[in-house]
Amino acid sequence: MDADPRAAYDAVAADYARLLMDDSDELAAKPADRAWLDAFVARVDGAGLPPRVLDLGCGPGRVTAYLALRAPGVEVVGCDPSTGMLAEARRRFPGLAFAVGSWSSPGVTAGSLGGLLGWYSLIHTPPAERPAALVSAYDALAPGGWLLLAFQTGADEGVELQRPYGHDVALVAYRLDLDAVVRDLEAAGFAVVERVRRDPVAPERTPQGYVLAQRGRRPGSTDVHLP
Ligand SMILES: C[S@@+](CC[C@H](N)C(=O)[O-])C[C@H]1O[C@@H](n2cnc3c(N)ncnc32)[C@H](O)[C@@H]1O
Repeated sequence: MDADPRAAYDAVAADYARLLMDDSDELAAKPADRAWLDAFVARVDGAGLPPRVLDLGCGPGRVTAYLALRAPGVEVVGCDPSTGMLAEARRRFPGLAFAVGSWSSPGVTAGSLGGLLGWYSLIHTPPAERPAALVSAYDALAPGGWLLLAFQTGADEGVELQRPYGHDVALVAYRLDLDAVVRDLEAAGFAVVERVRRDPVAPERTPQGYVLAQRGRRPGSTDVHLP
């Protein structure tokens, strides 16, 4: 049984934020990552979808804040199971909304989202639990709503991180099998629109994966079609 990542993220929250937001601006240094986020939120903005995006596993809110700046017409909300991360997010971005939520329980009304972002947060869900997590995401999205995932790729193996963010805490992250993620998305009812695996860029040590998917029709259901 994996250690609950909440306790680890509570412990590392301040140092995680400092390393990725203060000592350097990780997102500013990654134009390709910003391009994924820009394209994702542009698909929600003004598309006739609910103008609401959930950053699921938002951590200290750096990507929540980035999306909110990029699409002022969209309400961007962050959620995370770690209260330490949420405290950091609220302190840094008092004008944004943050709430407790997780892949198993995103804490939003069914069908209420135009977009759902999982930016390096699905990496803490054991692969056997991923199909159910993606069904939760499907249910939270409006028909035609968009899902963007980013993650480290591999063969779905769990890796015990060594002194994550300088702390002696137990934290397991999965390197997701991109093909398996696509299969799980399609089984949940998503249409996968783009999928990319790219080589690591220092200080990354593993290839990275990105998947953009749209809520379509769940196999065997009488659900609505894509608009
Ligand atoms: C590597 S951090 C990424 C944080 C943020 N998305 C970012 O890019 O800065 C992983 C985040 O996932 C959250 N997390 C862990 N388990 C989760 C779950 N079951 N559902 C949603 N988020 C989870 C952690 O609390 C942590 O904030």
